[in-house]
Amino acid sequence: MVKGNRVALIGTGFVGSSYAFGLLNQGVADELIMIDLNEEKAKGDVLDLNHGKVFAQQSLNISFGTYEDCKDVDLVVICAGANQKPGETRLQLVEKNLKIFHSIVTQVVDSGFDGIFLVATNPVDVLTYAVWKYSGFPKERVIGSGTILDTARFRYLLGEYFQVAPQNVHGYIIGEHGDSELPVYSSVDVGGVAVLDMIKKHPEYTQEGLDDIFVNVRDAAYQIINSKGATYYGIAMGLVRITRAILHNENSILTVSALMEGEYGEDDVYIGVPAVINRNGVREVIELNLSDKEKEQFAHSADVLRGILKPHF
Ligand code: 2OP
Repeated sequence: MVKGNRVALIGTGFVGSSYAFGLLNQGVADELIMIDLNEEKAKGDVLDLNHGKVFAQQSLNISFGTYEDCKDVDLVVICAGANQKPGETRLQLVEKNLKIFHSIVTQVVDSGFDGIFLVATNPVDVLTYAVWKYSGFPKERVIGSGTILDTARFRYLLGEYFQVAPQNVHGYIIGEHGDSELPVYSSVDVGGVAVLDMIKKHPEYTQEGLDDIFVNVRDAAYQIINSKGATYYGIAMGLVRITRAILHNENSILTVSALMEGEYGEDDVYIGVPAVINRNGVREVIELNLSDKEKEQFAHSADVLRGILKPHF
């Protein structure tokens, strides 16, 4: 079968519908099928988006669908499930969302779907592991959005701090997409200059300044949820970015949730790491040269996630 650029989206809430809007605006796919338990909501989104088609740069065929329609798509993106209430952590959503995911993944697999799963629902690392287990798919074809958004927040704030475009700041947030994540300062560079050298050479930039940035990154979702009830534009754009890397066979390095099988000394856990993403999914995990402190923080984050997984798998 010739591989096309067909996507099925499951869950057309704030994140899912923002993702659909991003997909239409950025011309990444040829076809988008929108699926939701609330069929009226999905149908309304299809109409609304189709009315914007005349303004889009590239055509995207958008339709309402059901699980059976996943059979012929290349990518299934899951944004369905409960989201955090103010004060709630991502990990507290696990019970509710595991149940929802069991039903979703079973129905998608029953359709005959044989493509790539991309998971965005929280707790994303735990739910991506669940999709891998429930589907029986090879690990390469089950990807979570991981720390793609945290990394984007980090680059944005570092860009503001150093007054350069975020595209010129390279650096990663890795670990759980949640409270135990960590910044990899040892590999952050600003236009090719190591950030740790920047703070040595320029007294106006400090380690405390960097630490404040990280705290803002880690707690950004709490702040946004308190302000407007949910976060969606940032993650939706991150999902479009991963979708493009997959469908356009980019071999781009993005921080996604991937299965560890010995990388970073970890096993049997999905966790946010930089990975090469292409048409086959995760081509490989990039192993950064972490400092001792970063290794310790990463191991702790992996332990937190395995602790959540343990009673369920
Ligand atoms: C975010 O980080 C809530 O995971 C979501 O914006």
